[in-house]
Amino acid sequence: MTTSPASASPASARSGPRPPGAVLITGSGSGIGAATAVAAALAGYRVVASVHSLDRVDDLRSRIASAEAGVLDIEFRELDVTSQQAAAALLADIVARYGALHAVISNAGITRMGTFENEPVESYRRVFDVNFFGPIALLKRAMPHLRASHGRIIAVSSLNGVVSTPFQEAYNASKFALEGALESLAPVARRVGVDVSVVAPGPTSDTHIWQTIDIAGFRAAATSPYTEVIDRYFANAADGLLTDLPAGQLAAEVAQVIVGVLGSDEPAFRYTTSTVGTELLARKLVDPTGDTLVARTGSWLDRQPTPAALADPVPADPVPADPVPADPVPADPVPAGPVPAE
Ligand SMILES: NC(=O)c1ccc[n+]([C@@H]2O[C@H](COP(=O)([O-])OP(=O)(O)OC[C@H]3O[C@@H](n4cnc5c(N)ncnc54)[C@H](OP(=O)(O)O)[C@@H]3O)[C@@H](O)[C@H]2O)c1
Repeated sequence: MTTSPASASPASARSGPRPPGAVLITGSGSGIGAATAVAAALAGYRVVASVHSLDRVDDLRSRIASAEAGVLDIEFRELDVTSQQAAAALLADIVARYGALHAVISNAGITRMGTFENEPVESYRRVFDVNFFGPIALLKRAMPHLRASHGRIIAVSSLNGVVSTPFQEAYNASKFALEGALESLAPVARRVGVDVSVVAPGPTSDTHIWQTIDIAGFRAAATSPYTEVIDRYFANAADGLLTDLPAGQLAAEVAQVIVGVLGSDEPAFRYTTSTVGTELLARKLVDPTGDTLVARTGSWLDRQPTPAALADPVPADPVPADPVPADPVPADPVPAGPVPAE
């Protein structure tokens, strides 16, 4: 098991033979999923790019065209991740057609801004359906195939899977829930031959998710005394004062991290995709990769719990002092290249 997200350094084309079977990526019609489909295919994987609707694949098509790599091994399939029946059918098809399922990259997701008092509980349910229950149902069904292939799960979470930001209660909660479930699964899955990782991008600029946020509607729905608070938030954002957040990075940069995880021999549990993102999570986590914890809880599952894991002390003063210590976390997995900003 690795303890450093540096193992997620971007993979170029795989040098060895590609693993048997296919990699399923959900929500591949646009953004991070589309970029990951292209990057994984370029790295030599056989990709099944599941898209919400075959009518909305322009972004995926244009990323494939921009790759200028000839024919890439990417099959487009339609999948609404909230449909368990459709997910089961797609998984069965993949195994029948490609012989095995090597990995599931659970990427499909939606977001929403809202003010707590005005937000209907129903909108929490909708966000959870896509960001939590859909992925969990899909991954449950994928597990027998992944056990057979000694495959892996990679879930696209968010910095908001660890650190909440204002006006996104439903989104933050859904990502926390997903990370919680997968952190529980990781040590168990490892013992049946399946690796589980989460990747936490920060704001990624060239994706469609931002266009789905109805800022005008959010503002209009807010009532006093929230209107003023919201206006201050947007004014601060416009003035560039939200410096705890990385500036926007490109989906292709996030995709390189994901493909790095896909090719890693010993993937960590958690990966960030930018230095600022790593530092933000360090304000809350003493174990940014999650590996110490997964090793520790995982040792509960062994005949002989690992003495080292059990002895591993919780730091006496686990809360990082402010400002963040000079070198609070393992190296940033993002390439030296264009620095992603969130
Ligand atoms: N962009 C960011 O700043 C950012 C930061 C951190 C994490 N993330 C995470 O990254 C992942 C990808 O988001 P993105 O930024 O690349 O945005 P995106 O371009 O909107 O991609 C999300 C994809 O999910 C699809 N989708 C939505 N509902 C679906 C459903 N029920 N079934 C199947 N697919 C569905 C969307 O398809 P349609 O558009 O056709 O509905 C879309 O293609 C999400 O999990 C998001 O939470 C994004």
